[in-house]
Amino acid sequence: MINAAVANVGLYSSDHPQVIRYIQNVYESLTGLLADRPEINLLIIGKDIVVENRPVVAGGSSGAYLEHFSRILGEKGVERLTFIAGMPVEDLQALINDLAAGPETPVKTRPSIRIGKVEVRVKVAGKPRGGEPQAAGEVDPLVAAAAASIPADLLEELNQLSAKEMDELKELYSRMKNHKKISVRGIEDIVKNFIGCFRREINPLGILASIKSAHEYTFTHVANVGVLTMSQAERMGFTGEHLHNIGVASLLHDVGKLFIPEEILGKPGMLTPDERKIMETHSVKGARYLIGLEGIPKLAVLAALEHHIKFDGTGYPSVRGGWKPNIISQIISVADVFDAMRSKRAYQEAHPLEKIEGVLRGGSGKAFNPLLVNHFLKMIK
Ligand SMILES: [Fe+2]
Ligand SMILES: [Fe+2]
Repeated sequence: MINAAVANVGLYSSDHPQVIRYIQNVYESLTGLLADRPEINLLIIGKDIVVENRPVVAGGSSGAYLEHFSRILGEKGVERLTFIAGMPVEDLQALINDLAAGPETPVKTRPSIRIGKVEVRVKVAGKPRGGEPQAAGEVDPLVAAAAASIPADLLEELNQLSAKEMDELKELYSRMKNHKKISVRGIEDIVKNFIGCFRREINPLGILASIKSAHEYTFTHVANVGVLTMSQAERMGFTGEHLHNIGVASLLHDVGKLFIPEEILGKPGMLTPDERKIMETHSVKGARYLIGLEGIPKLAVLAALEHHIKFDGTGYPSVRGGWKPNIISQIISVADVFDAMRSKRAYQEAHPLEKIEGVLRGGSGKAFNPLLVNHFLKMIK
């Protein structure tokens, strides 16, 4: 509705009755929402608008208004809008006037409406590390460089915390593989503990786990993708239950790999086209498995299904034109490619950061959401 108000101020003068009516409507909805919470956050991520951690979905003419609105906010460099309880209607009116004025007019922060950039604070970081000691000479140079920036005692503390989470994740994956009943509580506790680590000024790269053996790849990889995804989502402003569900989704994104034959999953060389096809079924298999589990957030099903669908809709599974993966699936796909490239595998040397950055930047706008690539690279550098 605020988008319609902005569009109409653009068409009419701000004292036109139609515009006044729109502003009044927007004001009433916002104050209604603010009645039981201290503030409402609106994040702008590319063309997407996320209100209180939920992407806004609009079709038809509302969709066009929404796109127009996110474009105006983007042009004015606004990435976050926070409405605070007690907001007077004049502040809203002034905000709408700022937004409707030409691109040279900046949007001003007011006492009850804060304007901001999505901060890329290097503040957080969780950490998992494999239970086994790292063999000499096996240290991942990227991880080692980031770890060097973390004070030794803090690194030690984080490593101990995460070793426990890694063991639990490993146990969870082996139960799933053996078709044993798993408890969603177990994965929720792992996520809670990971998120609990996210409070210091450290680079999350410094606490990524290294792959010890081929059969450990899947759970080590999902733990790393989990840390990177949760760190990025937290820095982008996702909080509470939503951040928690994002954690669950990222730790389960590759669960379908448990149903891929070992000889393909652990093959120490490139896959043949037929093997690749089988490998690619892991996203659908994972989503199917998760949908049958009680208590799994829908986001986890979606992320398992969508994490190999690219920003431009290509990738797999093949989807009808116009399908856009959920923003969280998009965050996971950036972390996913990053962790896959930085890992040393039987058929692949670990790629240096410049190479990975080149792939992420090269795929911006095609394979990946360009804004998410930027945020991600700022976070890890
Ligand atoms: Fe995958
Ligand atoms: Fe993955």
